[in-house]
Amino acid sequence: MSEIIVNGEEKKEKKKISLSFIQPSGAFTLGNYLGALKNWVTIQDSGEFNCLYAVADLHALTVRQDPKALKNQIYQGLAVLLASGIDPEKSIVFQQSHVHQHAELAWILNCYTMFGELSRMTQFKDKSAKYADNINAGLFTYPALMAADILLYQTNFVPVGQDQKQHLEIARDIANRFNGIYGKTFTEPEPYITKSGARIMSLAEPTKKMSKSDPNQNAIITILDTDAEIIKKFKRAVTDSGSGVRMGEGKDGINNLINIYSAVTGKETAEIEREFEGKGYGDFKMACGEVVAETVRPIREKVNEYMNNKDYIDEICKTGAERASIFAQRTLDKVYKKVGLVVKK
Ligand code: TYM
Repeated sequence: MSEIIVNGEEKKEKKKISLSFIQPSGAFTLGNYLGALKNWVTIQDSGEFNCLYAVADLHALTVRQDPKALKNQIYQGLAVLLASGIDPEKSIVFQQSHVHQHAELAWILNCYTMFGELSRMTQFKDKSAKYADNINAGLFTYPALMAADILLYQTNFVPVGQDQKQHLEIARDIANRFNGIYGKTFTEPEPYITKSGARIMSLAEPTKKMSKSDPNQNAIITILDTDAEIIKKFKRAVTDSGSGVRMGEGKDGINNLINIYSAVTGKETAEIEREFEGKGYGDFKMACGEVVAETVRPIREKVNEYMNNKDYIDEICKTGAERASIFAQRTLDKVYKKVGLVVKK
């Protein structure tokens, strides 16, 4: 990708690539923010990477969507991304469907992805149980499209939550398999997963991941929730019958709250346990609600501003897609040549 001049010298050094996407398939959650977006911003602001961040609209089609709602969700996803601190001057921001090379490489990678390995994907198993009347081919081959997203840009690091680790592994396997047959074509990507935000659990059923598609609104904190809603949801969060604010076996609810508090404040578990020594779950739930409300508030306010300025979002995506497409085409041409397709003259 772009080259940088180190200390004004002639020496040119290639920056590593960080890439990640988010699906516009429901209300964006605290899990999305703490598991992914927050780290996208940290990586962007480190200045050490060339970053590409996008809304994975094609992926969202694997589940039946209401077209009007989907369109709104796509804009909202982009607004959340910008409001969280993704800066289009520093990162390439776009919609997946605007860069046609994603679908094209996905087709080729489908031919290098095995039925058996796709059958083992937990997300496929979960989603086919959940949407039993619509187990479509796209849902099954989803990981090949995700591999294409990543491999098109010779990505080094993919900041994601824990739930995407298996998809990253299959992307690496596909890259490895292709490289093994044709010689080095793709960079093998690595997941970038942080400790505390990696797996934010449901507030209602803390053994389950906090998920955009959860119909129980009390289970999830969304980026658009008001301060009062956030505090109310934390007050109602399911915990065990104990009392001390301490991590422990079988204390899924309190473990999750400590994790959230840690991800939001940057404090370590031991420090949090000391801070709430002698206090009950009620006090801790309130404190969690307050720190989360403070984190979400400025993002929510900015999302609302961006949603009132869709022309600006369109403009950013147009530029982003044009830039992304240049790099994507470079890889796609390489792949076409390797497999024996004739590149368009
Ligand atoms: P998606 O849209 O489900 O989630 C977006 C990001 O949020 C993370 N995440 C969580 N992290 C912690 N706790 C949670 N409860 C939680 N819920 C979600 C996810 O791990 C993810 O990082 N397949 C991807 C989208 C995708 C993608 C890509 C990601 C498409 N192409 C290429 C990376 C690279 C997905 O459905 O994420």
